[in-house]
Amino acid sequence: MSIQVFLLSILLIYGTSLGGFGVEGSHRGHKHYHRKNKHHLHSKFGIKKLFVFGDSYADTGNVPEMWTDKPYGTTFPGKPDGRYSDGHIFTDFVAEYLGLESPMPYMLREYNKKKLHYGMNFAFGGAGAFQTLFPRPNISTQVGYFEELINNELYTTYDLEKSLALVTLSGNDYSAFIARGGNYADLLVTFIPEVVNELARNLKRISKLGVKRIAVGSLPPLGCVPFITKPGGYMKCDELDNLGSDQHNLLLTDAVAKLNNESLSTDFGMLNLDSTFLTIFNHSGYPKENLKLATPYKPCCEGVGNYSCGDVDKNGKAMYTVCQNPKSAFFWDRVHPTQAGWRSIVAILKPLLKEISKFS
Ligand SMILES: *[C@@H]1O[C@H](CO)[C@@H](O)[C@H](O)[C@H]1NC(C)=O
Ligand SMILES: *[C@@H]1O[C@H](CO)[C@@H](O)[C@H](O)[C@H]1NC(C)=O
Ligand SMILES: *[C@@H]1O[C@H](CO)[C@@H](O)[C@H](O)[C@H]1NC(C)=O
Ligand SMILES: *[C@@H]1O[C@H](CO)[C@@H](O)[C@H](O)[C@H]1NC(C)=O
Repeated sequence: MSIQVFLLSILLIYGTSLGGFGVEGSHRGHKHYHRKNKHHLHSKFGIKKLFVFGDSYADTGNVPEMWTDKPYGTTFPGKPDGRYSDGHIFTDFVAEYLGLESPMPYMLREYNKKKLHYGMNFAFGGAGAFQTLFPRPNISTQVGYFEELINNELYTTYDLEKSLALVTLSGNDYSAFIARGGNYADLLVTFIPEVVNELARNLKRISKLGVKRIAVGSLPPLGCVPFITKPGGYMKCDELDNLGSDQHNLLLTDAVAKLNNESLSTDFGMLNLDSTFLTIFNHSGYPKENLKLATPYKPCCEGVGNYSCGDVDKNGKAMYTVCQNPKSAFFWDRVHPTQAGWRSIVAILKPLLKEISKFS
């Protein structure tokens, strides 16, 4: 299986229509989110707000079609709510570790003004540094939304100084590049550096807007996601496919080190999703979080035949199967981790998060 095929496959995940866009947002369950924790929230490391940029690994409700896409959200909140998983994701667990509620999705900001207090989530599933094949705000537009809110004095300089930005892109630029006829050599030599430069440019913008701590996610090992491992019975990763993500991560790590070096006022740090995923795969789970995996690369929600998790046929019949216990799977669908997966990922990343978050 080549990286081209993998990258194309990502498109399928986001390829459904934008049906459902509209007023449903006001009726969604976000006001119940984390309510029971309200009285014992302790913000850690002096971080008061979390601002989030990126794609489906971080999006908690900005893409309206995900508000109704069963069986997403089956573990939390029990129905689809905009997350690309069975429940809580990266953003939620990072927020929890910082002692914050998960920040409000930008698209729902009018519906619950109280939640603006914890920051804002500008990540859109399917987004990239450049235009992907989907009508999603790119990373620069997402930072533009943030800038606009700052210009409207929704957040003060003090707020921004006490904030952490989480920025994560997981490959939509590359799937779009290949779908438009780009080849693998050009991807490695030309396009990956362009994506990393555009991402770095926006990290710098976030810093210039006054955010003092910026955590940047690396790409996961793309050769290990279920779409790639499926033909081999979910037995092993494709090492060639992993080269693409390694190259991206090498350049991004350099770019972040350079930004850190150049900036006196902002701490930039990498969150190494790649080694975190590999740690979990290598140990068939993460015992500290009770994650035990019989087949690490096998997703909980599997499409029948060529269908994907969440697809229905023309009669509305579900063309996918869901495992009995999503807690026993790392991957939820063909590219996204389960809630249990994300919980373990963030548990492993805590030392890095702590280092980036501390006042320096
Ligand atoms: C991001 O999107 C905006 C709005 O569509 C566009 O003007 C801009 O050129 C895009 N940036 C990149 C790097 O493609
Ligand atoms: C950091 O800055 C110093 C001094 O300007 C320079 O010598 C060094 O190469 C830089 N390191 C990186 C990673 O850019
Ligand atoms: C995981 O195992 C692979 C293959 O044995 C090894 O190359 C890699 O370094 C390991 N990674 C981690 C993070 O343990
Ligand atoms: C699945 O995809 C393969 C390869 O593109 C194609 O040959 C086959 O007909 C498809 N099967 C279904 C059920 O759509």
